[in-house]
Amino acid sequence: MIPAPLVPPLAAAPPPPLAERLLAEAGRLLERGHAPEALPLLTTAARIAPSPGTWLALGRARFTLADVPGTIEACGQALALGGDSPEALTLRGRAHALLGDNRALLADAAQAVCLAPRDTQARTLLAQALLLAEEFDEALAVLGELWRENPADHGASLRLAEAFQRAGRYDAAEELAAALLALPDLPPAQRRLAHGILAQSALGRGDHAGAIRAAERGLAETGPDMPLLSVLGHAQLHSNDHAGAARHIAAAQRLAPRDGYLSHLSAALNEDAAAGRAPDGYVAHLFDGYAPRFEASLFGLGYRVPGLVLRLIEELRPGLNEGRKLGDVLDLGCGTGLVGVVLHDLLGGRLKGVDLSPAMLREAEAKHVYTELQRAELGQSLLTDPALYDAVIAADVFCYFGELLPAFTLVPQRLAPCGVFVFSVELTAGEGWELTGSGRYRHARGFVERALALAGLSPLVLREEVLRTENNTPVRGLLVAAQATPAGRA
Ligand SMILES: C[S@@+](CC[C@H](N)C(=O)[O-])C[C@H]1O[C@@H](n2cnc3c(N)ncnc32)[C@H](O)[C@@H]1O
Repeated sequence: MIPAPLVPPLAAAPPPPLAERLLAEAGRLLERGHAPEALPLLTTAARIAPSPGTWLALGRARFTLADVPGTIEACGQALALGGDSPEALTLRGRAHALLGDNRALLADAAQAVCLAPRDTQARTLLAQALLLAEEFDEALAVLGELWRENPADHGASLRLAEAFQRAGRYDAAEELAAALLALPDLPPAQRRLAHGILAQSALGRGDHAGAIRAAERGLAETGPDMPLLSVLGHAQLHSNDHAGAARHIAAAQRLAPRDGYLSHLSAALNEDAAAGRAPDGYVAHLFDGYAPRFEASLFGLGYRVPGLVLRLIEELRPGLNEGRKLGDVLDLGCGTGLVGVVLHDLLGGRLKGVDLSPAMLREAEAKHVYTELQRAELGQSLLTDPALYDAVIAADVFCYFGELLPAFTLVPQRLAPCGVFVFSVELTAGEGWELTGSGRYRHARGFVERALALAGLSPLVLREEVLRTENNTPVRGLLVAAQATPAGRA
C-alpha cells in the first residue's frame, strides 16, 4: 500500500504559454530600457504565437532601436491580424514621419484619429502631418483643441506656438512663447524651444535685429542649441554679417553633422565649397523632398522663368510657330519639366532633360514631353554628351551655383552652329556672387558678363526681369541668351 502523503500536493497551475512568458519578460526588459535584449524574445513570441499585441510590442521595441522599416512591418502585421488599432497606426505613422513619407504619415494619423477621436497621441500626430502638408488651418484647429483641453500642458502650448510660427502667424506664436518663458518652473528643454520660436518668428517677419537678440538671449540662457544657432546665423547673413553667420552656421552644423542644408551653407559661407556650387547630395536631397509640391509652391510664388524662356526663344527665332521648329534642346536642371511643357509646341527635335534629383526626374517623366531624361550633375552631363543642341537651357538652376565659369565653359561645345544658351540668375546688388540665407546664390550682372566672356560665350540678350516673389517681394534676376564665340567653339 502506498502511504498517503503528509502534505497533499497543491493543484499545479498550468504554466503560462511560452509566448506569454516571453512577452512578460520582454515587457520587463523594455521597462528597464533594455530594448536590445527584449527584441529576440519578442521576435520569437511573434513567430510562435502571432497576435496583434505581440506584433505591436515588437514594433515598439524596433522603434526604440531606430529600426524604422522593421517598425512599419511589425505595425503592418499587427493591423493585418487585429484590424483597427489606433496605437499601431500611430506608431507606424511616427515611423513614416522619420522616413519623410508624409503622405503615409497623414494617412495613418487620420485613420488613427477616426478610430480614436479623443486620443491625444493620435491627434498630435495628425497635427504634425497636417503641418508637414502645410495645411496650417487644420493643424492649428487640432492643436488649439488639444491646448484648450489642457492649457497647463507646456508641450501642447509649445506645439501650438510652433504651428502659429510656421503658419506665419508670428504675433500669436510670440505671445504663447513669451507666456511660457514667464513661467519660472518651465524646464530648460522647453525654455530652449520657446526661445527658438521667438527668434524664428522675428526672422520670419524680417526683423533680423530682433531675431539676433532673441537667439542670443536663448543661447545665453540655455546653452548651445542647433536651431537657435541656425536662426542666429541666418539673421546675421541677412544683416550682411558674413563672419558672424559663418561662425554660427558652422557651430549649428557641428551639432547636426548629418544636416545636408547646414553643411552646404556652412561650407559655402566658410568658402571651402570645393566646386563653388551647392553639393550634389544637398541638391538631390532638397529637391527629392520638394518634388511632390514643387509646382504648387512655385505657382504660389508667381514663378515666371519657364514662360520668360519661351518668350525669349520665340523672340530670337521669329517664325517658330509658323511651321519652323526648334531642333534638339538640352534642359539642364530640368526639375519637374516645366520648361519642356512650355516649349512643347515649338519642338521639332529631341528634348533631353538632366537633373540631380530622381524625384524631380520622375515628375518630369510623367509629363511625357522629354525624349531622354538623365540623372546627372549638369557639368558631368555636358562633359560626356557628344550631341549638339539648338538650345541649351538652364532655368532657375544657376541659383545653386556660386562660380559660373566651370559650367559655362562646357556649354559652347554642346551648341550647334546657331545654337543658343538660355539661362536665368538671381541678381545681387553686391559684387561677384552672394549666398543667401535660403542656400541659393545670387549673382552680380558684371560677374555673369565676365564669366560668359571667359567661357567663350557672347550675350545676345541680357535683360533684367522679375523671376518670382519671395515674402511678397519681387526677386529680380537676369534672363540671358548667349551664343558661342569662335574661340569658345574651338
Ligand atoms: C529651382 S529648380 C528649377 C527646375 C526647372 N528648370 C524649372 O524651371 O522649373 C532647380 C533644379 O535644378 C537641379 N539642379 C541644381 N543643381 C544641379 C546640378 N549641379 N546638376 C543638375 N541639376 C541640378 C535641381 O535638382 C532642381 O531640380
